[in-house]
Amino acid sequence: MLKYKLSQIDIISKKIIKKIQDNDCLFLTGEIGTGKTTFTRSLINQLQKKNKVKKTDVLSPTFNILYEYKIRKLKIMHYDLYRIKKSLEVKELGIFNDLEKSIKIIEWPKIISLNVRDRLEISFYYSGKKENERKIKVQGFGEWKGFKINDI
Ligand SMILES: Nc1ncnc2c1ncn2[C@@H]1O[C@H](COP(=O)(O)OP(=O)(O)OP(=O)(O)O)[C@@H](O)[C@H]1O
Ligand SMILES: [Mg+2]
Repeated sequence: MLKYKLSQIDIISKKIIKKIQDNDCLFLTGEIGTGKTTFTRSLINQLQKKNKVKKTDVLSPTFNILYEYKIRKLKIMHYDLYRIKKSLEVKELGIFNDLEKSIKIIEWPKIISLNVRDRLEISFYYSGKKENERKIKVQGFGEWKGFKINDI
């Protein structure tokens, strides 16, 4: 478990960016308000910075289900499946059927029944009584197996 303050989120997202590839998949789990969208915003903004593209707003896709970002050749699909209650609806979204490669960042992914081989799961937690702090746990599968964030 890694504790972090809001001011440290870019350090975390940069460590993930170092390893991320154009067809990667990140599953973000954790209770409402634990920081999944905040992390995604940091990751997308850092990718924009790295690619010398103007930073954009990154809003929560709770109502739209999906927001898409294009950063030069990279395509980023930011999903929030909180409102999706049936696995059939997930299928209809075609998250994993896209023809072009894309980085998929998925909040509330537990409705996904498909086994995604290469993925990084990041679990977000409140940090006890400390309002200004959160905790994360990372667990990698496939290409991400063994991925760790030790120091920030
Ligand atoms: N490390 C942190 N320390 C303190 N506050 C944080 C931290 N990370 C995020 N927050 C704050 O927590 C609030 C909720 O964050 P966010 O919207 O990212 O949560 P979420 O997990 O995406 O929630 P939801 O499940 O509703 O989509 C925001 O006000 C954000 O600034
Ligand atoms: Mg969110």
